[in-house]
Amino acid sequence: MALRLSIQLLSWLVVLLAICVSATYPKTARLGLSGKAMESKSEVRLPPEFVTYFYTQTLDHFNYRPESYTTFQQRYIINSVYWGGANTSSPIFVYTGDEASITDVAMVAGFITEIASHFKALMVFIEHRYYGVSMPFGLREEAFSNASTLGYFSSTQALADYAELITYLKRNLSAENSPVIAVGGSYGGMLASWFRLKYPHIAMGALASSAPILYFDDITPQNGYFVVVTKDFREASESCYDTIRQSWFEIDRVAAEPNGLTVLSQIFSTCKPLNSSQELKDYLGLVYAASAQYDNPPDYPVNMLCNAIDGAPEGTDILGRISVGLNSSIFGHQPCNYIFDLKPSNKSGWIWQDIKSVLDNFGSNIIFSNGLRDPYSSGGVLQNISDSVVAIYTAQGAHCLDLLTPLPSDPVWLVSQRNTEISIIEGWLTEYMNATLASNTHGRSG
Ligand SMILES: *[C@@H]1O[C@H](CO)[C@@H](O)[C@H](O)[C@H]1NC(C)=O
Ligand SMILES: *[C@@H]1O[C@H](CO)[C@@H](O)[C@H](O)[C@H]1NC(C)=O
Ligand SMILES: *[C@@H]1O[C@H](CO)[C@@H](O)[C@H](O)[C@H]1NC(C)=O
Ligand SMILES: *[C@@H]1O[C@H](CO)[C@@H](O)[C@H](O)[C@H]1NC(C)=O
Ligand SMILES: *[C@@H]1O[C@H](CO)[C@@H](O)[C@H](O)[C@H]1NC(C)=O
Ligand SMILES: *[C@@H]1O[C@H](CO)[C@@H](O)[C@H](O)[C@H]1NC(C)=O
Ligand SMILES: *[C@@H]1O[C@H](CO)[C@@H](O)[C@H](O)[C@H]1NC(C)=O
Ligand SMILES: *[C@@H]1O[C@H](CO)[C@@H](O)[C@H](O)[C@H]1NC(C)=O
Repeated sequence: MALRLSIQLLSWLVVLLAICVSATYPKTARLGLSGKAMESKSEVRLPPEFVTYFYTQTLDHFNYRPESYTTFQQRYIINSVYWGGANTSSPIFVYTGDEASITDVAMVAGFITEIASHFKALMVFIEHRYYGVSMPFGLREEAFSNASTLGYFSSTQALADYAELITYLKRNLSAENSPVIAVGGSYGGMLASWFRLKYPHIAMGALASSAPILYFDDITPQNGYFVVVTKDFREASESCYDTIRQSWFEIDRVAAEPNGLTVLSQIFSTCKPLNSSQELKDYLGLVYAASAQYDNPPDYPVNMLCNAIDGAPEGTDILGRISVGLNSSIFGHQPCNYIFDLKPSNKSGWIWQDIKSVLDNFGSNIIFSNGLRDPYSSGGVLQNISDSVVAIYTAQGAHCLDLLTPLPSDPVWLVSQRNTEISIIEGWLTEYMNATLASNTHGRSG
């Protein structure tokens, strides 16, 4: 049971670092439990206007081998309540699904509903292959069983899935003239921007939120992520930052004493005895990273953690403070602290060299939005590349915040970030409609 849980948590934590949805899970379920839920069959229930469909998708888009024509059922969700219809060429917003069940994404990405109502758009959420129920080979166990079944698990294939499905859907709805805008956050944001670059004839624009597309070797410094994590904590509280900084030495010091690991295991109420101080330090590092990445209103996990560290009773020592902080963090509130082993993984498949020059030469109609409190903003596009490849960022705000459901309590800077996005998209659509009108006047269609 414990081992199973650890594998689930571990596989989930690998993706945690590039995902939007965990940001909005209820506090206690946010990490331990939502990770489990995502692997299990339990699915969120969407409101009835979100209708689920399945598309018979091609397994391999890039090969003529007989097995390439194997198919699988790909899930997609449509909400058409705001759609102006094909006859008015009303737009289609497509969420390029990422490493989560698409129902979770449709549930939390409420900003898409807002822009859909504003632009009378059709909303389409497509699930990424190998996630949720969109499993090649039927079952997850089969799909993940060996290198040959996993060979079709790539973002290149996923983008081709989206191209095929969108083309089918537009034909099905007689909506060939409706402009498509790809939307996504985090890895989904990377997919949205890549989709616009790779399939410009299918999507006329992309809104990519918190998409660390520059986070690859030689483009941005690889410690950029942790530089932002550190900055977030330092800004929240200098004394909290100091306590954390000193705690790394303190953990090693205690670990080196006789029975030191046992003492540390007790201080941190670990579920199993620690084998090394590194284990504990890696785990704490992840807790801080996740807190910074999801440092969104209303409860601001970094402040939550620092308030606990700073607010520990007078005389509490460094490790005592860190332990109180851990307990009140988004990883806390558990009967004991499950410290899992975090093996650094190779970023294979996440290589996109020279993206900047690609954007320079081929990009247009892409919005990169970021909140600078998001550690991933260190790999985001923060400069305007051209008139139509633009960066919108706010000093506040963390991962994917702009895509989440707008709330009456949202701060002014967030409302204004979203309004800027809407007005840029408005410009694209106006231009598109003008061009369509012009080409129709000249007797051409499409
Ligand atoms: C256009 O399509 C919408 C939605 O399908 C429909 O409600 C409306 O009646 C249509 N309008 C015209 C003028 O055909
Ligand atoms: C991989 O797994 C699939 C599905 O379980 C199976 O059909 C296939 O024979 C396996 N291939 C190899 C090389 O083990
Ligand atoms: C597309 O067309 C088929 C049959 O013509 C239909 O069953 C399906 O529900 C249609 N709609 C969508 C959104 O795929
Ligand atoms: C310590 O090592 C054992 C054996 O490898 C492992 O089962 C256990 O989970 C480790 N403890 C922690 C806290 O990771
Ligand atoms: C942290 O939580 C655990 C489990 O509820 C508890 O046993 C422990 O005393 C707490 N530690 C601190 C420092 O509050
Ligand atoms: C990452 O890849 C390199 C070279 O491809 C390999 O030498 C190294 O062992 C890998 N590291 C991990 C953690 O898998
Ligand atoms: C990029 O351009 C957009 C639209 O003109 C503007 O709103 C935004 O502030 C610019 N971003 C930067 C980083 O200068
Ligand atoms: C669209 O066409 C109108 C009328 O011809 C023109 O005033 C407007 O500037 C055009 N807008 C764009 C974005 O091209």
